[in-house]
Amino acid sequence: MAAFNTETVTDVHHWDDRLFSFRTTRDRSLRFHNGHFVMLGLEVDGRPLMRAYSIASANHEDHLEFLSIKVPNGPLTSRLQHLKAGDTVLVSRKPTGTLVASDLLPGKRLWLLATGTGLAPFMSIVRDPEVHERFEKVILVHGVRRVSELAYADYLQHGLPQDEFLGEMVREKLLYYPTVTREPFRNQGRITTLLDSGKLAADLGLPPISPAGDRFMLCGSAAMLADLRHLLDARGFQISPQTGHPGHYVIEKAFAEK
Ligand code: A2P
Repeated sequence: MAAFNTETVTDVHHWDDRLFSFRTTRDRSLRFHNGHFVMLGLEVDGRPLMRAYSIASANHEDHLEFLSIKVPNGPLTSRLQHLKAGDTVLVSRKPTGTLVASDLLPGKRLWLLATGTGLAPFMSIVRDPEVHERFEKVILVHGVRRVSELAYADYLQHGLPQDEFLGEMVREKLLYYPTVTREPFRNQGRITTLLDSGKLAADLGLPPISPAGDRFMLCGSAAMLADLRHLLDARGFQISPQTGHPGHYVIEKAFAEK
């Protein structure tokens, strides 16, 4: 498995029957930008079975963290969901991806819009001091079906703002807006609907979105990305056409169906 590092699982957390996260050791040679993904998997019948996973830990941390759905008959996640501390996984050596802050034009506010496991790369980005330095506000919006799928909600609301090193910056800059579509919750509705109606910005006390001040990173299902792209493009936002060419927004498909 020369293309992959073998990492040891150190912790597993099950959020509910559809969603879990796990930590692994991190090879000292692995370098990545916050927002990047790797290929992650297991050796099955002597061959690597690999899928793309965004790294949910920040690049200054000495472990790796991943967020995954559990697909009952999914070739990989039907196995991965049984991981325990001490098990090993394979991790590719060349992280990559398009959700990088360097491909955004300067702006005032950075919106991180995620549905489901699309939250993972943003867990890395909200712990990036350089990202907070570049923007007046960083707004993390997480849309899910059920309250139990609001992974890391407690950490985002209580743990991270009290973090020894990042807490002060996070308290000043980060706004967290969880929203639920299929159960009662304090915020309800799809991200698309909330953005389109202006309710999202209004609830947060922010001005209506405009290409002059707002930048976006999008991560979710293909349908969510298509709808949000349509919405942003109609308002004059331009996507970063390729790495190294900044735009008003960048996107990545959340890597579901595994
Ligand atoms: P809904 O419950 O109305 O389908 P999923 O678990 O299917 O990936 O969905 C995660 C969240 O994304 C759910 O709240 C779901 O809302 C929402 N969602 C699904 N499709 C879209 C879309 N095209 N645009 C915005 N949000 C979407």
